[in-house]
Amino acid sequence: MTEILKIQYLKKYYIKKKIFASKSSIVKAVDDVSFSIKKGEVFVLAGESGSGKSTIAKLILKSIKADSGKIIFEEQEIDNQKKNLEKIRMNCQMIHQDPYDSINPRMRVKDIVLEPLEIHNIGNKEERDRRVIEVLHEVKLEPAEEIIKKYPHMLSGGQRQRVVLARALALKPKIILADEPVSMLDVSIRAEMLELMKELQKKYNISFLYITHDLATAKYFGQRIGILYLGKIVEIGQIDEVLDNPKHPYTQALIDAISEPNPENLKKERMIRIKETTVIENLDGCKFKNRCPYAIEKCNIEPKLEKITNEHYTACYIELD
Ligand SMILES: Nc1ncnc2c1ncn2[C@@H]1O[C@H](COP(=O)(O)OP(=O)(O)OP(=O)(O)O)[C@@H](O)[C@H]1O
Ligand SMILES: [Mg+2]
Repeated sequence: MTEILKIQYLKKYYIKKKIFASKSSIVKAVDDVSFSIKKGEVFVLAGESGSGKSTIAKLILKSIKADSGKIIFEEQEIDNQKKNLEKIRMNCQMIHQDPYDSINPRMRVKDIVLEPLEIHNIGNKEERDRRVIEVLHEVKLEPAEEIIKKYPHMLSGGQRQRVVLARALALKPKIILADEPVSMLDVSIRAEMLELMKELQKKYNISFLYITHDLATAKYFGQRIGILYLGKIVEIGQIDEVLDNPKHPYTQALIDAISEPNPENLKKERMIRIKETTVIENLDGCKFKNRCPYAIEKCNIEPKLEKITNEHYTACYIELD
């Protein structure tokens, strides 16, 4: 499989000013992150709140400016030239957690889905209208001819997120960045939405960056996963390999936090408890060391991602089973 998107050495720092404090601190939201997504692959980015997941998506779409690093789409570096920005914005679409981040509540469904086609000047009016109906059928919003007349508030949460998906699909994108696309939906309709995304992903061989903190949906939808901790990838690899045989203490803790105690886990005696301490953003060395039950002296030197097996890498000195 060839790579459709490459992210190289991406960095984005923010200066956090503290009210009433004379000093300001730096938040390393994305700190030297590299990974790639293959054509037709679903790559998952997982990590707890504030780990930098959404910032990475925004950097890919160039809606915010990176401090350094490269975004390479189909072997072409996306710099700030108009033609390159146009290329990434045509071929790469975003789905947000909250449908109202993508859709205007004062627009009818028809105009919401039509808008990207008009912005990018695709086809004539008739072709665009036809595409709107076609894409609403694709996301199973029926009857499409009725749905197009509605305003977002007249739809259910699940239907609204399908409108967002339809809008993202309208331009036949090669890659979709889905930032927690199902986390605001009722549990009962989450599975349906994921199933629909998976079906369309396969049908059109669309690549996905699937951002989530939910490892169960990650496993259902994804093929490879990167685990983010405070702006750094601490483990990356095939999803089954990483989730069944995690090597970084943080990954293990994330998994243990969601798994039911089962004989397999107990056998491995791996019920890792992250130390109950505050997250310190600007630690030297490994950023996880103050919460890690295994930290050693050497963790004061930042660990680099090292290969464990084919495509499975982790940034930790401790060799865990
Ligand atoms: N515009 C900004 N100004 C200052 N700090 C920011 C800004 N945007 C993000 N950050 C900080 O960068 C870090 C990463 O934020 P980001 O939104 O990417 O995390 P996330 O992994 O998407 O979290 P969540 O799961 O809560 O959505 C956080 O510490 C956040 O407070
Ligand atoms: Mg986020």
